[in-house]
Amino acid sequence: MKKDSLCIHGYNYTEPTGALSIPIYQSATFKHPSLGQSTGYDYSRMQNPTRQALEETISSLENACGAIAYSSGMAAVSNILELFKPGAHLIASTDLYGGIIRYFRTISEKNGLLFDFVDTGNVESVLPLIKSNTVALFIETPTNPMMNVSDISSLAAIAKQHNLLLIVDNTFLSPYFQQPLDLGADIVIHSGTKYLAGHNDTLAGFIASKNTAILEKLRFIYKTVGGCLSPFDSWLVLRGIKTLALRMIRLDSSAKQIAEFLSTHRRVKKLYYPGLPSHPGYEIMKKQASGFGGMISFEVDSFSTVKRVLAGVKIISFAESLGGVESLITYPSVQTHGDVTLEERESRGINDRLLRLSVGIEDVFDLINDLTLALD
Ligand SMILES: Cc1ncc(COP(=O)(O)O)c(C=O)c1O
Repeated sequence: MKKDSLCIHGYNYTEPTGALSIPIYQSATFKHPSLGQSTGYDYSRMQNPTRQALEETISSLENACGAIAYSSGMAAVSNILELFKPGAHLIASTDLYGGIIRYFRTISEKNGLLFDFVDTGNVESVLPLIKSNTVALFIETPTNPMMNVSDISSLAAIAKQHNLLLIVDNTFLSPYFQQPLDLGADIVIHSGTKYLAGHNDTLAGFIASKNTAILEKLRFIYKTVGGCLSPFDSWLVLRGIKTLALRMIRLDSSAKQIAEFLSTHRRVKKLYYPGLPSHPGYEIMKKQASGFGGMISFEVDSFSTVKRVLAGVKIISFAESLGGVESLITYPSVQTHGDVTLEERESRGINDRLLRLSVGIEDVFDLINDLTLALD
């Protein structure tokens, strides 16, 4: 099946009543037929039929051997880091979602993990950082919020050569546009809160892998640590994914038009959008993804323009998050990256003039009009 069909028929479950919508199995526990026997479902921290259908869908879309659904993207990240022992060293993209940097710097470092941050868009810069205790490369592509692009296959080759795991946060493009496992990544992560759920109505997180040994370890961590996605939230995400293809196609096209509009606007000083040929990651994106997605970051001329835009947008909402049907505008230096040090933020271009736009599926001319009025 093609991806558009997998969004709708990506799981194996057949409901005996013939109901097309998978039931919400709102049960914490499941009855055993007799001692030593199980229906395959024992306790919802381990397995739940609604969640399983969702995990199968994610697995099919990522072309994986399995997937696990978590209560948020951060829960997925925390479970992955439990794979590593104190003293292990990870190399991560300098530009990552701020909450992941906060996790690495506060929780993971306290637990004895060591990190180096580098521009993984420059593959050569990764090699000198690999040490005998390095266990993984952790990347986002494109990154949040600077839209830097890393070459997944080249990094996968390095990871393979040095026996490292390549972990890719695929939140910004979704499996509809990019399938990192097919490019050699070992683990894919998602904030399922974003494009997968797609409606700004629930939190979710995922991991997917082709490696059954890794999946087995992560399943063990899952049942031990928790952080499971509830049956109702699983159902919401399953329903969201049914329109993933339509949403991604629509917002990809709208984002291109909005980026072109912003690129010539007198108040926009810098534009970070990998779908324009002027973006340094454009050629790599064309090679490894089938779309550019709906995320655009841009720097305006002054802080007073920032304030005017955030107060002035009417269709677009000034809110944290991304990837839903509603367009959102975010102020990264205070919101998504508020806990990253000023020095680190400034060195990455996350200054007080940077805005991040998540393009939704409203009429593109309404969105451009909304931005025009707010910018002027
Ligand atoms: C790229 C990326 N990864 C992970 C996360 C964390 O996901 P969640 O908010 O679902 O915990 C986010 C959240 O914004 C994100 O943007």
